[in-house]
Amino acid sequence: MPVPRLDLSLVPRPSRVSPRPGRFVLGRDTTVRTLPGAEPAAALLRTLIGRDTRLPLHASADGRIVLALDPELEGLGDEGYGLTVSPQALLLRAAGPTGLLRGVQTIRQLLPPEALSGGVPGTDTWELPCAEISDVPAYPWRGAMLDVARHFQPVEYLHRYVDLMALHKLNTLHLHLTDDQGWRMPVDAYPRLTGVGARRARSQDGPTGPDGARFDAVPHSGSYTKEELRALVRHAASLGVEVVPEIEMPGHARAALAAYPELGNDPSRELDVWTHWGVCDTVFGVHEEVFDFCRTVLDEVMDVFPSRHIHIGGDECPTTEWERSPAARARAAAEGLPDARALHGWFLGRVGAHLVERGRVPLGWAVTGSELPLDFTVMTWHEPTHARTAVERGHRVVAAHHRATYLDYAQSGDPGEPVAQPGAPVPLRTVHDHEPAPAAWPEEQRALVLGTQAHVWTEYARTPDEIEYLSYPRLCALADRSWSGGRGDWPGFVERLRHHTARLDALGVPYRPLDARPSPAASAGTARIRP
Ligand code: ACM
Repeated sequence: MPVPRLDLSLVPRPSRVSPRPGRFVLGRDTTVRTLPGAEPAAALLRTLIGRDTRLPLHASADGRIVLALDPELEGLGDEGYGLTVSPQALLLRAAGPTGLLRGVQTIRQLLPPEALSGGVPGTDTWELPCAEISDVPAYPWRGAMLDVARHFQPVEYLHRYVDLMALHKLNTLHLHLTDDQGWRMPVDAYPRLTGVGARRARSQDGPTGPDGARFDAVPHSGSYTKEELRALVRHAASLGVEVVPEIEMPGHARAALAAYPELGNDPSRELDVWTHWGVCDTVFGVHEEVFDFCRTVLDEVMDVFPSRHIHIGGDECPTTEWERSPAARARAAAEGLPDARALHGWFLGRVGAHLVERGRVPLGWAVTGSELPLDFTVMTWHEPTHARTAVERGHRVVAAHHRATYLDYAQSGDPGEPVAQPGAPVPLRTVHDHEPAPAAWPEEQRALVLGTQAHVWTEYARTPDEIEYLSYPRLCALADRSWSGGRGDWPGFVERLRHHTARLDALGVPYRPLDARPSPAASAGTARIRP
């Protein structure tokens, strides 16, 4: 469908947009009428659009901007909304408060892009194009995973990351808080997790070559306070974004084992916080003390993160230590398992049951999910076919395979692309083409697909600028497709994105230019990124 007007170039594309004649003028005398239940949206409107335009947007009973909950829009679900912009009034309605928050972001995108840079001094009127919009997302899970374990990121940057996600109506920030190379969340019962596990002596520098790995000589450290994480959760909630924490087990646990070697398969061994990238064969043991640890850690995690889902990792867990360990083999036999390899699913199932008892949903990385109980939601990351296999088994799925959603992979095959994980590139179009639940699947299987998310692993992306460059504009593509579902329209997206990049410019996002030519200068120029 052709884009009717440039100023209606919204990302993600709304389900229905009908342009109307005229403009709504936002000025110093524009006030806001907030009906009961719409207060969070009014607060967000004032914060975001007030800041964008430098207008006061005072409250009044006869405000020309009207924010209202409307049960008649129930058919649009939690996140859907209706927006009517006429020359006289701007009316935003939704069945629930989250729908109104999504609508506020649409109003924001209807402003001229320069408003998003914090207003233009001396400008106190802004025009919005008139339109009738009815909007509802295709998928309830539209997210991004940020790995703060490999390279710690300042909490202020996490706030910005959420702000940019919310602009694109993405609703889930998955925080990868622990890994072999670092543990970033404090746990009162186990202070050495951050006391020891948040610092590594150096980091692998570049991919492992024929002569092995090279390292820098720079210690890397960082952890959040619980109050910082709670504030992040509150900030995200004010934007309608949920923060889903991940604590990795039983593999990717080297930082925890450096802090508490007694949780491993050889308590006498001293381990460092890992300085390599890749898959580490040091994993948790399977004795009761380990389960006490996991439960205690997750209780503290649940206390900070109210999210429905709690991610407990589960990927890339070599079983060699268990196969060698007489204690682990004895445990497998005592539990009636066929062999020590089966301890992997058994481990995750036991820990997942603890989350279920507390009213949460365990979430795990899965190749196909075959080792996980069905009350796990699984995040299929490996092959495109795995999401189908998992839904056929009856799992709920976040379908996010690496060939379409790993944003740490380069955006193109251009040798001048800034540093990225080695491997095939994931171009913008591939992200936009990714359909989490293809129309050809049976309806009951499609219904099990919650949605998709992007992944920003940070072995090679170290700084906020690098993360942002890898994220944009690919996260726009993921947002567009996961909001619009099967209605994906590549030429239309590109046309809207050409206008949307003015918004990214206004917000100072160092994105990959759409017309970047395969030359080092083209990609490094905008991005301010280490080549
Ligand atoms: C993964 O990339 N190991 C989830």
